[in-house]
Amino acid sequence: MYNRPYAFNVALPQGRPDRFDRHVQRRLTEMTGQFLDQDAFEAMAASGNPVIYEVYELVRPQTAGELNHGLSVVHAGKVGDEYFMTKGHFHARLERAELYYCLWGEGLMVMETPEGEWAVEELRPGRVLYVPPRWAHRSVNTGKSEDLITLFTYPADAGHDYGTIERQGFRKLIIEYTGQPIAVDNPRWRLPEGKP
Ligand code: F6R
Ligand code: ZN
Repeated sequence: MYNRPYAFNVALPQGRPDRFDRHVQRRLTEMTGQFLDQDAFEAMAASGNPVIYEVYELVRPQTAGELNHGLSVVHAGKVGDEYFMTKGHFHARLERAELYYCLWGEGLMVMETPEGEWAVEELRPGRVLYVPPRWAHRSVNTGKSEDLITLFTYPADAGHDYGTIERQGFRKLIIEYTGQPIAVDNPRWRLPEGKP
């Protein structure tokens, strides 16, 4: 039934759609090396290894013209001073964009290009964010207790490159400083291999 139109509903504030093909729950230990405070990371991993975020996705055939879409739910919390966030990725086909619509909560989208540009955009209910081709993206929940829920859609043939971010991180991290989120340089950010 791949070619019939369909609609679905999203329960808020749970962010759970009543139709999806794939549900991913990403726990802290699946994000080794991404949070800055190693001691806080290990303490939290040992005491329950919480689910950091979840994705409900409707997966379409991987052909040009199709759009994957779904809900991203980043839970509230911090590892040390750093807010819960997604792993983040480039699209394997770099020239593939993505559109986000924030449904619930408050947060930031951290983005960067292989050429060294970076950007941080606010996410709050009603706000639409366009991530152009070539921009890696990571959502960060800066709220105190509510989930950050976004609806996303991107070309089904985009694919995901997680390895680049796992190796070098994002240039900017979002931490809480005197009660507010701020973007700081990532001291562990590394130049991509092969670049001087
Ligand atoms: C898809 C996309 C989102 C993310 C989701 C989880 O291209 O950008 O659906 O997949 O927000 O983040 P990651 O994939 O970085 O674990
Ligand atoms: Zn993406």
